[in-house]
Amino acid sequence: MQIFSDPELLQSYITDQRIQGKIIGLVPTMGALHEGHSRLVIESMKSNDITVCSIYVNPTQFNDQQDLVKYPRNLNKDLEMLKELGCQAVFCPTDKVMYPTEPVLKMDFGQLEHLLEGHHRPGHFKGVALVVSKLFHLVQPDKAYFGEKDWQQLIVIKKLVEDLSFPVEIVGVPIAREPDGLALSSRNLRLRQQERAVANQLFIALQLVKAALEEKSSFESAISTGLDHLAQFSLIRVEYLEIVTAFTLEKPSAEMGSEPLSICIAAFLGDIRLIDNLQVFMNNVI
Ligand code: PAF
Repeated sequence: MQIFSDPELLQSYITDQRIQGKIIGLVPTMGALHEGHSRLVIESMKSNDITVCSIYVNPTQFNDQQDLVKYPRNLNKDLEMLKELGCQAVFCPTDKVMYPTEPVLKMDFGQLEHLLEGHHRPGHFKGVALVVSKLFHLVQPDKAYFGEKDWQQLIVIKKLVEDLSFPVEIVGVPIAREPDGLALSSRNLRLRQQERAVANQLFIALQLVKAALEEKSSFESAISTGLDHLAQFSLIRVEYLEIVTAFTLEKPSAEMGSEPLSICIAAFLGDIRLIDNLQVFMNNVI
């Protein structure tokens, strides 16, 4: 496995691979890798000759400095895991390499920045779009892989690619879950035992909302079902629980018919903020 921190060395490796006609997949990550990331890497390895995994805790996407400081970092373990998976290359740059000077470019994703994560983490998607654009330029992947746990991020990145005509196909990979339903996340590592014991209730609440929708409850009443369930757990502080249209993330209307929906949640357990989502059709689960 090749490990690069210098973008020039990475680019000359990529150029070599391209000359040999190799197809390149990119898996952007912030490290502290888990089974969810392995699935992205495995998915990429299935359809590309070379998989580049980037590991970089991107400061520009953190609106909370404490979250940035406390974000789990585990480079040696990450590299071991990627090597075992058979990943061909890793790019782990420093802040100085990624941001030699303070960036001034600010991309604006319009309405997408004012709802769900965008609303609760001001500036977050500007930082994500900036770093992902840099990675696309440096790696020039044919395909790039993102987890569906960050559903809104996936929608934002698809818009980024469309608006800036990046020649890359974006592939969303389904959420990996613990046996009790908790969505895998690097932040789970920071949960205390008693928080971990109730963290799967977020997924249970999503399932209750879905079941209520399937029983033809109104959107408001379905959300109340989920919130009432979570209210039993004093360690869980819900930031939002919302039903939106799956691809445009708008408020759904009762007349919409069979357009897919996404039930999205963000909640704090102590100071750890977790997100999750569940996609549903009005009549069928997808
Ligand atoms: O999903 C993540 O881990 C990050 O937001 C990403 C896409 C690697 C950009 O820093």
